[in-house]
Amino acid sequence: MADEQSPPPAVGNPDPGEVAAAAAHLRAGRLVGMPTETVYGLAANALDPAAVLAVFTAKGRPRFDPLIVHAADAAQAWTVAVPSPRALRLAAAFWPGPLTLILPRRAHVPDLVTSGLDTVAVRVPDHPLALALIRAAGVPLAAPSANRFGRISPTTAAHVREQLGDAVAAILDGGPCRIGVESTVLRCDPVPIVLRPGGCTRARIAAVLGEPVALADRDARAGSLSPTGAAARVAPGLLASHYAPRAPLRLKTAAEPWPADPAIACLAFTGVGLAGRSRTEVLSPAGDPAEAATGLFAALRRLDALQPPEIVAETVPDNGLGEAINDRLRRAAGLG
Ligand code: TXA
Ligand code: MG
Repeated sequence: MADEQSPPPAVGNPDPGEVAAAAAHLRAGRLVGMPTETVYGLAANALDPAAVLAVFTAKGRPRFDPLIVHAADAAQAWTVAVPSPRALRLAAAFWPGPLTLILPRRAHVPDLVTSGLDTVAVRVPDHPLALALIRAAGVPLAAPSANRFGRISPTTAAHVREQLGDAVAAILDGGPCRIGVESTVLRCDPVPIVLRPGGCTRARIAAVLGEPVALADRDARAGSLSPTGAAARVAPGLLASHYAPRAPLRLKTAAEPWPADPAIACLAFTGVGLAGRSRTEVLSPAGDPAEAATGLFAALRRLDALQPPEIVAETVPDNGLGEAINDRLRRAAGLG
């Protein structure tokens, strides 16, 4: 019988030495790959304009697209953003967690972080390594998803290494992300409106606030980022290529048949109608949107790696987390 191996360290368990080294990199203006419960982030000291500039450069991200500032707790979040009564209630209910609040910024937040807007995006991530890293760095961290601009978001440390390995001083490996789609981006006031559906559903937000929460359409999302209404100041999600695989991606509803051509890759929700077919990924045989969200981006990457002539992706019921999944699928299909 083989010798008993000592168990591997629990994934996401902070190794103090590794966290301290990564925090030192951040304080020195370098970038760190940071696990969160949603996707991996490319983290920089949010208060260091040169470090924030390095994030934009590494990602190839346009400067008009503002970053989310990650804090270790609500008190630290309020050092960069001015909370409103709604924000205080939402922070108490959902932080740490996959909800990003858009609030008035404080004056010392670098313009580069907010792309010159008078608002800033803040959240407290629900991942022990992210929280340990922010605490050790002693500063809030600006972190977009750690992918090249317009490509699929990373849900493992290996994904970060593939796309941005050269740009980071360290990557903390927190294992695969639990939620798998990015945080919900919510403008709190004057009325609550979701600018990007994500890991925290509208129904949960509405239940806490006791009022309806709208989902912004494309035009409203662009307008929300634009004090002047200028068409150029759009959110990244409004660019057709966001989350794009290399292969062209087409959407189908569950009722429509899968394509006959066996070379075409299929991204399925429950897998009905795919028996015996190769080049398929089934996100949740049981039809659970949370399970589907967790595996979505990795499945898309695996199918894309097969270099198929096309990927056909099945949309999911458009409620709860399904809203975020369908949003990402539409963007991957270039539909915005
Ligand atoms: O789950 C997440 O949110 C991940 C992890 C790493 O925390 N981060 C993430 O960041 O998805 P990023 O940069 O890929 O997306 C940030 C989104 C963009 O759609 C951006 O336009 C929006 O937040 N955003 C940031 N600041 C904003 C502001 N002041 N007003 C409106 N939208 C803003
Ligand atoms: Mg992103």
